[in-house]
Amino acid sequence: MLIPVILSGGAGSRLWPVSREGHPKPFMKLADGETLLLKTYRRAASVATGGEVVTVTNRDYFFMSKDEFTRAHLGDALSPSYLLEPAGRNTAPAVAMAAFHVQERHGADAVMLILAADHLIADRDLFAGAVRDAHALASDNRLVTFGIEPTGPETGFGYIECGEAQGSGRRALRFVEKPSLELAREYVGSGRYLWNSGMFCFKAGVILEELARHAPDVHARAQACWDAMAVDRDAKGAMIDLPAEPFGQLPDISVDYAVMERSDRVSVVPGRFGWNDIGSWNAISSLVPPDEHNNRCAGDAILVDSRNTFVQSEDRLVAAVGVDGLMIVDTPDALLVARQDAAQDVKKVVAALKLRN
Ligand code: GDD
Ligand code: MG
Repeated sequence: MLIPVILSGGAGSRLWPVSREGHPKPFMKLADGETLLLKTYRRAASVATGGEVVTVTNRDYFFMSKDEFTRAHLGDALSPSYLLEPAGRNTAPAVAMAAFHVQERHGADAVMLILAADHLIADRDLFAGAVRDAHALASDNRLVTFGIEPTGPETGFGYIECGEAQGSGRRALRFVEKPSLELAREYVGSGRYLWNSGMFCFKAGVILEELARHAPDVHARAQACWDAMAVDRDAKGAMIDLPAEPFGQLPDISVDYAVMERSDRVSVVPGRFGWNDIGSWNAISSLVPPDEHNNRCAGDAILVDSRNTFVQSEDRLVAAVGVDGLMIVDTPDALLVARQDAAQDVKKVVAALKLRN
């Protein structure tokens, strides 16, 4: 049995001004008019075998998430359930709560497939093949990651050192989350490391064991939170509100730091399915075909004597003259102009905005 669990949380501050607190990254529409979350629901449905897809998200996004699920038209065989957070505590708490939920509904041996709501995957068949390999390893009590061939020394990813063959994957000798640039260069140079895609596959019972071992605080508080909801759990059906207390007391830590770096049960299945982490405007612009001057335009734009420039406009004409290497993102109430090589720093705008409010 395979139960997809979609983590939909991050505000995506590097994608300001389109991604905002009230309208975060999973709800961003791509050029084809579909949101990242809708695409994630379709991907989840293509591999789900337990009749259920779990979404862990903030309370505020419940209705928006439900709408995307409906729009995905997945048929009656698959029902959604939502674990709703009062405030995000990062991925370890989200995964822990989902594991308690899946364990209770489907048993400790049920296999969970953790998916991020902000990835694009080009080839769904290759993805399904990798998930089958991961499922086999997870059934053998492994914590399975999906490894992506690195294209450069990115410091925003986890790195997995691959060991000997294990089923259709490899044993992971080491997992290093967000290394320094120096280490990332060394890892990429060695040819032995893959990027962690941020998707995982494991039994509910196994991830709970590993949380208890390596992040006892997360496990204990998640357990307390789950127990606190016991009273009317049956009545909650598909919409489970996680109580502000004690959920708010869970430590803010990602599953990568809490478990993957520390566990000796990690395996990796190589993923050659065209993975794209929609992290910054550079990733979005790479989805738009370039013209002969390497300009990429989504929306109404006129570029004169300009090169290597990305423009996205919602409902106004954007014109630029004599520019090179810029990204310009226009929305009704905010305009972003940035150098493309500063794409990672767009999040500083959001930080500055927070100081203002
Ligand atoms: N429900 C919920 N609650 N979801 C969350 C929360 C939360 O508090 N925090 C993050 N998420 C979701 C995000 O929306 C995203 O879909 C996923 O969990 C991963 O979180 P990110 O914040 O995007 O993680 P990251 O990009 O820093 O790092 C992870 O992904 C990389 C690949 O994209 C790690 O797993 C890295 O090792 C990995 O390389
Ligand atoms: Mg991310």
